[in-house]
Amino acid sequence: MAFRFIVPLLIILGCTAWGTSPLVGQLMHSWLLSDVELRSQLVFHSIHDTVDVMISTKDDVKMDELFRSIASDERLLALGLCTSNRMLMHRSPEWPKILACPAPEQRFVVEHLAAGPVLAASFALSSTESDQRYLVIVHDLTFIERRSSTLENYLSVFLGVLGVVVALITALVAQLTLRGWIQVMYKSLTTPDQGHAHKKLLEPEIAPLVREVRKMLRGLDAPKSAADAIRIDWNPESLRTLLRNELPEAQVIVVSNREPYIHHEEEDGSIVLQRPASGLVTALEPICRACGGTWIAHGSGSADRRTVDANDRLAVPPGAPTYTLRRLWLSDEEQDGYYYGLANAGLWPLCHIAFVRPVFRTEDWEQYVAVNRKFADAVVAEAKTQNPVLLVQDYHFALLPRMVRERLPNATIITFWHIPWPNPEAFSICPWREEILWGMLGSSILGFHTRFHCLNFLESVDRFLECHIDREQSIVSTGSSTTVVRPYPISIEWPPTALANQCAVPVCRAMIRQQYGLAENTLLAVGVERFDYTKGIAERFHAVAHLLEHHPEWIGRFTFLQIAAPTRSQLSAYRNTQLEAEVVTRTINERFGTAGWVPIILVAKHHDPEAVFTLFRAADLCMVSSLHDGMNLVAKEFVAARDDEDGVLILSTFAGASRELLEALIVNPYDCHAMGDALHRGLTMPLEHRRERMRLMREMVSERNIYFWAGRMLLDASRMRKRHRIEADLTFVETSSSNRRRGGTV
Ligand code: F6P
Repeated sequence: MAFRFIVPLLIILGCTAWGTSPLVGQLMHSWLLSDVELRSQLVFHSIHDTVDVMISTKDDVKMDELFRSIASDERLLALGLCTSNRMLMHRSPEWPKILACPAPEQRFVVEHLAAGPVLAASFALSSTESDQRYLVIVHDLTFIERRSSTLENYLSVFLGVLGVVVALITALVAQLTLRGWIQVMYKSLTTPDQGHAHKKLLEPEIAPLVREVRKMLRGLDAPKSAADAIRIDWNPESLRTLLRNELPEAQVIVVSNREPYIHHEEEDGSIVLQRPASGLVTALEPICRACGGTWIAHGSGSADRRTVDANDRLAVPPGAPTYTLRRLWLSDEEQDGYYYGLANAGLWPLCHIAFVRPVFRTEDWEQYVAVNRKFADAVVAEAKTQNPVLLVQDYHFALLPRMVRERLPNATIITFWHIPWPNPEAFSICPWREEILWGMLGSSILGFHTRFHCLNFLESVDRFLECHIDREQSIVSTGSSTTVVRPYPISIEWPPTALANQCAVPVCRAMIRQQYGLAENTLLAVGVERFDYTKGIAERFHAVAHLLEHHPEWIGRFTFLQIAAPTRSQLSAYRNTQLEAEVVTRTINERFGTAGWVPIILVAKHHDPEAVFTLFRAADLCMVSSLHDGMNLVAKEFVAARDDEDGVLILSTFAGASRELLEALIVNPYDCHAMGDALHRGLTMPLEHRRERMRLMREMVSERNIYFWAGRMLLDASRMRKRHRIEADLTFVETSSSNRRRGGTV
């Protein structure tokens, strides 16, 4: 560190000394020279009368004596008498032999002789009748040379020593100042709980530095996390390592409405375990298996109460438990108001632009508030520390983040909204829009699948709440809290568990064809979802009709197998969706079906992930035609199931997945003709094209898997925790500094 000061300073002083010493030498030289000239004049004035007399009396002997006696003076080398035509008439013995009389018009001449430089000063004497005589006084100048160079040397040494001393003092002062600052900052940043009164205050000059550090911290936050996340090879182990290193001792708590394991009681009293048809569960379950912790969810299965302990807890996954499932019980009234009412009849259609009118009832809202409170209570009860990492899932819990924030102010609350966020115009029809936004902004991090949804959210906040939005950093500050709003496209585990025990693709193909009574060479397209009006199931059936109408060569050679799990059947919009799909299937099958062949097979039944994967492996094509979808993990699962690198994916442009799976055949689900054409294109696509597209999509899903999703959020959360700690202390330091400046005390 000291060298950074000393070396440049020495260089500067060295250059200065090197540049100035000769100048000082020259100055000295000319001073001494004029001194010698003056002395010559003095000598001349003291003897010129005597010399004049001696010339007129032609007394050469006396003149010789005079010259010799004057020339005995140190540094006065010799005297001579010259004529105007430069003849030397008299001289003292030391007159240099090669020195000629100077020209009469030259008063002072410096001659460089072999023995050294001399000054010849000539002065006119009284003129005689015959000629003008000049007295020439010769001075030895070697002493000037000596003195100048001695002075130069002394000066260089002096400047050198001065430079070193100044550099050392500068370095020392800088070092001490810096060390003082660092010590005080370090102390105040690393002892947050000791109370502000104990901290040493910084000088007021530190305030700008504090502001800069704060700015820097903000700036570093966003880009770095994405870059870090991309470099890591994401898998359960890397996620565990991240938790261990970045969030040591952090308790992870997940909250969702849907539970990952449902126990049902059969008619004979036996219990069966079911894995729900839920993208949320598909994504979150591998994370919990990797990280441990507690998952709080609604116990919705008929045998759920029979399978928990006295604290309503259950170790899962069954057989190899790694985390705790904490079940919460809801009454029918709560379930109707919170889940079927506000969440699925109100918020779901509000956020999905599928042209189903949202229903908002005050009774539903009240239940929604009460159930959010109930889950928030459970979170606080399950929290073993004041600052757990809480992962809040979905639109069922818009109010919970604020409720938890009020009771656990230091919790890191990461809320992920699994469905789209509408534009502010559409959102504005919600009677509780302000409450919902305010509740969500209790989160530390708020994630959506796409940047577009983040922007819609920020616009909504801007329109309906009083708060500060930093659009560059995507941060909303409400005064009491700060929320980072970011896109985190959700994904699936890689490699998927459901793939582990699958048969080879040709075996799956044969099995499924046999199971559904299809000819061996039938080309098979599949669709797998819940019976939800947002999925565009009827629309894809119309696309099949279009295909058969315009490409009749497919009649008898192609089948569309649709698996749809009944869902939310209490709501008429869902019942109608199923009814519509059944009616359209019947109509198309009647129109195009032949003896022993139907174009569409509709199976309204829940399938476990393994069965779904077998189906994907048997298919030639998978169709995802959502009218609006946050992400759609079916598309990613199809890609993951195809380790043979074959199969075509048709994907709606209105599903978040279309932003990542660019090699799918992207379609507009409202355009059944275009979708029919896409079906034809997919069924006739050459093998090498299918492989190329599938390879690229697999690469994407394998890299951006569910561990990447969770890892990025946790990395951001860990940075935020560190940053908040630093910011809190910087705020204190700033306040203390300004108090000091105002003469206040802390
Ligand atoms: O899309 C939102 C979501 O939570 C999905 O993650 C999931 O597929 C679906 O809704 C499940 O809904 P439910 O839990 O109501 O059956």
